[in-house]
Amino acid sequence: METQHSLSELRVRVSSLQVQPSCDREAESESAARTPDHGQTSTVPDIEDVAKLLDARPRQIIVNGDSHRSLDERAFNEIINLSDTSLRPPRSLETVKSSECLDKLTAGQGNGRTVLNGTPNQPRRPAVNEDDEPISPTSMVEGAWIALKKAQVLFRGKPVGTIAASDPTEDSLNYNQVFVRDFVSSGLAFLMIGEHEIVKNFLLKALRLQAWEKHIDCFTLGEGVMPASFKVLHDPTRRTDTMVADFGESAIGRVAPVDSGFWWIILLRAYVRATGDHSLAEEPDCQRGMMLILTLCLSDGFDTFPTLLCADGCCMIDRRMGIYGYPIEIQSLFFMALKCARSLLKPDSRTKDFLERIEKRLHALRYHIRTYYWLDHQQLNNIYRYKTEEYSQTAVNKFNVIPDSIPDWLFDWLPMKGGYFIGNVSPARMDFRWFTIGNCVAILSSLATPEQSMAIMDLIEERWEDIVGYMPVKVCYPALEGREWQITTGCDPKNTRWSYHNGGSWPVLLWMLTAASVKIGRPQLARKAIDLVETRLMKDGWPEYYDGKLGRYIGKQARTFQTWSIAGYLVSKMMLEDPSLLGMISLEEDRKQKPSLTRSSSF
Ligand code: GLC
Repeated sequence: METQHSLSELRVRVSSLQVQPSCDREAESESAARTPDHGQTSTVPDIEDVAKLLDARPRQIIVNGDSHRSLDERAFNEIINLSDTSLRPPRSLETVKSSECLDKLTAGQGNGRTVLNGTPNQPRRPAVNEDDEPISPTSMVEGAWIALKKAQVLFRGKPVGTIAASDPTEDSLNYNQVFVRDFVSSGLAFLMIGEHEIVKNFLLKALRLQAWEKHIDCFTLGEGVMPASFKVLHDPTRRTDTMVADFGESAIGRVAPVDSGFWWIILLRAYVRATGDHSLAEEPDCQRGMMLILTLCLSDGFDTFPTLLCADGCCMIDRRMGIYGYPIEIQSLFFMALKCARSLLKPDSRTKDFLERIEKRLHALRYHIRTYYWLDHQQLNNIYRYKTEEYSQTAVNKFNVIPDSIPDWLFDWLPMKGGYFIGNVSPARMDFRWFTIGNCVAILSSLATPEQSMAIMDLIEERWEDIVGYMPVKVCYPALEGREWQITTGCDPKNTRWSYHNGGSWPVLLWMLTAASVKIGRPQLARKAIDLVETRLMKDGWPEYYDGKLGRYIGKQARTFQTWSIAGYLVSKMMLEDPSLLGMISLEEDRKQKPSLTRSSSF
């Protein structure tokens, strides 16, 4: 019960934190006066197995005597494997519980400048501040919450999102906007501490924007398209707020935000899981919004594959990077959004056919990705020995991939133990690059079989230096260089090798790595990654990304105070401390569905 109090207090403290949100600081802040949600009851779930753990009601912070501790790895695995609800961790994995760090928030402490030390291969030493005082994880969590609160954007006095970055030294371009994909990290952090209002407002606001008529030049965009970002314009004289949205018509390169709609559905489900409140998702507007998003993807066309055909740069990687066609980054999100929508759409006469289409597509997509995108040592050997020009239904090399197109780096890089979903599959083309979001979301959505999920984590562990290095996590691996970079990116100077989207390291991806590793019972990997982040991220000013083969340099054009770097850290900390929070962002394998492909013998 003691913890129940401290959690309530926590919500009160965070809610009443008097931080003036960014963007329209002149606007009256209602958030400061907002009362916390006291309607929640927190109970200890009966943890019988992983599925049950993840199925536990969402806003469940463990609240008995153990709530002060995180699960240590051994105990965590025991809980999962032995189904023994009486098992409790003998010692803390975390030295400090991030929610407890919030105790000092109202005092406004702990945002000091720090100096780096520590490398991935050395025992972790904490970052230090100007006076050479170590920066504790407590101060870092405090600093993160302060920054996240400050990043809130108000519309007519209500929080509706968070600004992408608040870097005072750089031209803001569109970083002063609320990006739909960026807000997911913030939204999860807020949901995890019981601050639901901002997430609800965001979801409704994005829905309103979806209903706008959208044009690029003379062309009208599909009804279901969600914005990439929106901006609140505050007129201090007239004391009015207006909103502008970008559906790709202003974005650099005019890229389509295909992932926005998927993230919106995924966040809507997280909201339902966190609040236990189905009424928002059941509102006709929300039901319609989901159907409009998915209608864009489920309509009949010339497709021969169940994967979604996309233009380059249509996701987090929003510049030309050779991820056109059928990128895993989008396919995993598509799969997850389909599964979320299936659970959120109310079955009735209007949704019946639609739900059937979702079911069929899920089935086909699952088979296609598990079969054709999967790569491990044995599968690489198969491709290496492929015959080409096979005609007919019996073809083994269905996409006519020419073995000579396998890049040299892959032969040594692919470990004997482990595997992953490759970046793209289409006729005569396999993009063998590793992509973090695609693979982590495949684990979270159960697009990957349990064996494949395990193998993906094996690969991350085996290739830790390449995928995590000094700063978690590389957006993709390896970087494109030389002529390949010229041709694929169009000589993009922001995407030079090992920078930005071209093999850069993005702290926001920490939460996906954490969630994936917690889901498959290997939280020690997340712990290791968080340790790395804690040596640098705050002292570096929460950069957007890092450069270099090992992620050792702050990105050359990286913004500081990048909100999703901040929120991603908080989400990771909270999820590692309380694995039941994973249920917000994780979906189990369909019970009736049998895994169609298991790992090959490299396992
Ligand atoms: C960059 C990223 C994009 C992100 C945006 C705002 O353009 O590539 O994914 O949404 O910044 O942070």
